[in-house]
Amino acid sequence: MHVNQESHGYERPNFHTVTNLDADGNVLDEGPPAARFNGTRTWHSDKSYMPQPSMATFLYGVEVTKQGGETLFASLTAAYDALDDATRQRLDTLSCVYSWAQSMRNSGSRAATAEEIALSPPVTHPLIRTHPGTGRKSLYIGMHASHIADMDEEAGRAELFELLDFATQDRFVYAHKWRQGDLVVWDNASLVHKSAPFDWYKERRHLHRTVVRGGTPF
Ligand SMILES: [Fe+2]
Repeated sequence: MHVNQESHGYERPNFHTVTNLDADGNVLDEGPPAARFNGTRTWHSDKSYMPQPSMATFLYGVEVTKQGGETLFASLTAAYDALDDATRQRLDTLSCVYSWAQSMRNSGSRAATAEEIALSPPVTHPLIRTHPGTGRKSLYIGMHASHIADMDEEAGRAELFELLDFATQDRFVYAHKWRQGDLVVWDNASLVHKSAPFDWYKERRHLHRTVVRGGTPF
């Protein structure tokens, strides 16, 4: 289940609806969710604030945008490969603290609720992750990350934002332009993703999402 409990009336176990439509199919008049929940518009790896984050995410396009609203993917494996040896070795010794509450602050969303914080207390993951399937190493970062363990919080957060900027350069990014009926499946261990902006009032965007739980990152 998603920690964000905003359902827009689309309650269904184990599925999360990403939409700008209400249950009658009309564009929600509350506007873009910037202040409420901006998390899908900032680079992240799904549920990395959980002890066992999502291995795979499935996103199905029921209604898709004509313009904008692409899903952007950045390869954390390619970004890791592009780091120099000294940086890789230093980062390999570090861990990140992940926090839903800080994620909501990082993305400029509403404050996390007490219920959400209780569902997802802070967890720690390695900053360099080894893929359980391929054995390849990648950065493991994103907006759900709060700071670097055993380092000054602000300094660590600033370094994480710098690394995220590095990892999400155009040369590491694929933009998926949605067609109706597309089912996009991705690997959260080696990617961060986000949605591109679109005209909330002119476009109709309705996606179904579910995830498969992975193991503990190492
Ligand atoms: Fe996501």
